[in-house]
Amino acid sequence: MQQQRGTWSSNLGFIFAATGSAIGLGNLWKFPFITWENQGGAFVLVYLICIAAVGLPIMMAELLIGRKTQKSSVGALKDAVGPLWRYVGAWGVLGAFILLSYYTVIAGWSLFYFAKTVGWSLNGFPPGFSTGALFGDFVADGALQLGLSAAFSLATVSVVYFGVKQGIERIARLLLPVLFVLLLLMLFSALGMKGSGEALAFIFRPNFAELEPASILEALGHSFFTLSVGMGVMITYGSYIDRTQSVVKASAVIVMLDTLIALVATVIMFSVIFSVEGMAQEVGASTVGMLFISLPELFYSEVPFGALLGPLFYVLIALAALTSTMSMLEVVTAYLIDERGFERRRATLTCGGGVFVFTILAALSLGAVPVVTQMEIPGAMGRLLFGGKAGWFSMADHFISNWMLPTGGLAITIAVGWFMTREATEAELVDGAEPEWFRFGMWRFFIRYLAPAAVASIIIAVMFFGVDFS
Ligand code: TRP
Repeated sequence: MQQQRGTWSSNLGFIFAATGSAIGLGNLWKFPFITWENQGGAFVLVYLICIAAVGLPIMMAELLIGRKTQKSSVGALKDAVGPLWRYVGAWGVLGAFILLSYYTVIAGWSLFYFAKTVGWSLNGFPPGFSTGALFGDFVADGALQLGLSAAFSLATVSVVYFGVKQGIERIARLLLPVLFVLLLLMLFSALGMKGSGEALAFIFRPNFAELEPASILEALGHSFFTLSVGMGVMITYGSYIDRTQSVVKASAVIVMLDTLIALVATVIMFSVIFSVEGMAQEVGASTVGMLFISLPELFYSEVPFGALLGPLFYVLIALAALTSTMSMLEVVTAYLIDERGFERRRATLTCGGGVFVFTILAALSLGAVPVVTQMEIPGAMGRLLFGGKAGWFSMADHFISNWMLPTGGLAITIAVGWFMTREATEAELVDGAEPEWFRFGMWRFFIRYLAPAAVASIIIAVMFFGVDFS
């Protein structure tokens, strides 16, 4: 059994894997977009506070459950907290399953745009070409969507198939440094653009007059998504760490890197946008617009070395997405291994196949197949749970961001803050390996009061005020 489960080969390997899970489309795509929508400055500051005050304590909570029990989410919650808490673990497994089903589709897009940009770099960008029309046709092309999603699923399954050390850790160690170097390269080139000053001011100069209450909730909701908490990923990854690894130190590093990358990505994108006359008015109509409509065109019209940076940018997105998708698949796979006695390879194929059924639904729900695109849950239930949205892609996204992440996160804070003893949590966090700045009493206050109150406010906003985080 112990053989089956696997462990990280080193503390650093774990940091790479967990950071890879955290850094994903949320950092490169969603964060820049919501920063744009919420007028930057003050929003970014609020986001940083949410990350430090809510995200970080929950990250520690998940990792400590994993490290303590050495089990994946279902078994871990059962052992550490109590038998009924296994349902919270199961909720996380379900969440990872659903998230993976549509995250894979967007990840697949990066492959297509990589191929496209390579073509444009070699043959030139066709004058007058509309990237908007391209995107519209592209998402409605069922065969292409299926092919790309299948390719990305296959990549994800291939990694998890080889296990924690040989698969996940090895790929994370390989890809993360590449990702950092690519981003650094782009950052330098972006800072050289004429819009970079304006971009930095937009992002880092807070203007609280522009901050709306809904922005605060959005920042909070995103802090969950971006750190991969609320779904048992960090419990599962934490279950493979060695007892000498400090949960506090690891959490701090993961959270810092994740935040840094989100900010860097935002600086890069906004520098491009502010460098182009009139672009600031055009961007922002849709979430996908920035990444897949505005940017591809800009690479070939405005960005110095754009022909080089364009394809690299989409490789970057693909790499970041892969290190996230493999962690989602690992949560589901680890459940089958730990709780159902599956052998790893069979578990991986079973989960990968099961998720792919829903990936097909997601891939075809963007216009390719009308019945699938229009699929919805009618009535009050559909409105409450799925925001009245249609098609698996939008429904799943709505359900994850508005329901599963906040409720999963809330349950974790209550489990660790109120149902585990002070002694049990203290033994995991204060073990001689923790950093000097750490104050257990403060963490405990945050996890018992501040974090649950904050997360509960998200749920209330969703239920009663029609706020939408997806
Ligand atoms: N953190 C990932 C990102 O920023 C997305 C994510 C949310 C995630 N929850 C997760 C990834 C659970 C893996 C597992 O893109």
